[in-house]
Amino acid sequence: MTDKPKILVTRRHLAPTEARLTEDYDVVLNEDDHIMSADEIVAAADGMDALLICVTEPLDAAAIERLPDSVRAILTLSVGLDHVDTAAAKARGLAVLNTPDAVTDPTAEIGMLLLLGAARRAAEGAAMMRAGEWSTWSPRMMIGKEITGSPLGILGMGRIGQTVAARARGFDMTIRYHNRTRLPFAQEASASYYTTPEGLLEASPFLLISAPSTPETRGFLNAERIAMLPDGAIVVNIARGELVDDDALVAALGSGKVAAAGLDVFNGEPADIHPGYFELPNVFMTPHIGSGAERSRAAMGDMLLDGLDLLLAGEPVPNRVV
Ligand code: DGY
Repeated sequence: MTDKPKILVTRRHLAPTEARLTEDYDVVLNEDDHIMSADEIVAAADGMDALLICVTEPLDAAAIERLPDSVRAILTLSVGLDHVDTAAAKARGLAVLNTPDAVTDPTAEIGMLLLLGAARRAAEGAAMMRAGEWSTWSPRMMIGKEITGSPLGILGMGRIGQTVAARARGFDMTIRYHNRTRLPFAQEASASYYTTPEGLLEASPFLLISAPSTPETRGFLNAERIAMLPDGAIVVNIARGELVDDDALVAALGSGKVAAAGLDVFNGEPADIHPGYFELPNVFMTPHIGSGAERSRAAMGDMLLDGLDLLLAGEPVPNRVV
């Protein structure tokens, strides 16, 4: 028996995070890293002070309702909160902690990777090389689009959107954006604000989506809105798959209306992604690795555990959402 706080950890973490968990807490680890169902989590949560979950373990209102009274906090290793019913948690007096800031730089890096990869046809080039199909150099071969000096439209100008903007300025891109709330003048850093998302689409030969998944943004990029993009636009999504209507994007990628897409997030990921994406050469895909960089992933763990320590000490928690 120990009086260390008890925590259920639903996935395996990087070594520094697991070392801290083992040392400072009475921890129940999911040794084989299988995806725990909500029922399994509810059962294993008995006697726990906190749950450390990931985007792979959605906790809806029904699951949160059934959590034992011992649980005081849900820590999610993500900035995104779409998999946790925060209103239900609040109603039960449970704190929810997430990882803003820690994910910002690596996710913006993946945004730039996808932007460049889609625009410069990286998936096709890499596939051609690996298949041993590159036979000759030619002036017409694999012509992409330069991002340098082009306008970049950013939908969702939170921390990640602003960091992408800063990196894209290094490529002399002109930043245009739409956000629920206009940024203060200094934070805009000369980016042009579009009052409607539709206005932004019309002005975005390169479009990067970095807005949270909410009831208002789900299905945002549908056929009607894709039609508003300039012909041959490049689309990048580093937010959530839910913001995109896959049938519509696949059709637009097939017709050339959208020249290429860079996608890190998908509806139905990982097992049930729209098959159309795999058949198209002009899609550069990564498996939801926005925050998957060593330093940041460890910082995410620390941020949650620092927050839990503060919470249990009755102190204010900077990364507490509810
Ligand atoms: C996030 O932080 O929301 C990422 O998608 C990883 O979970």
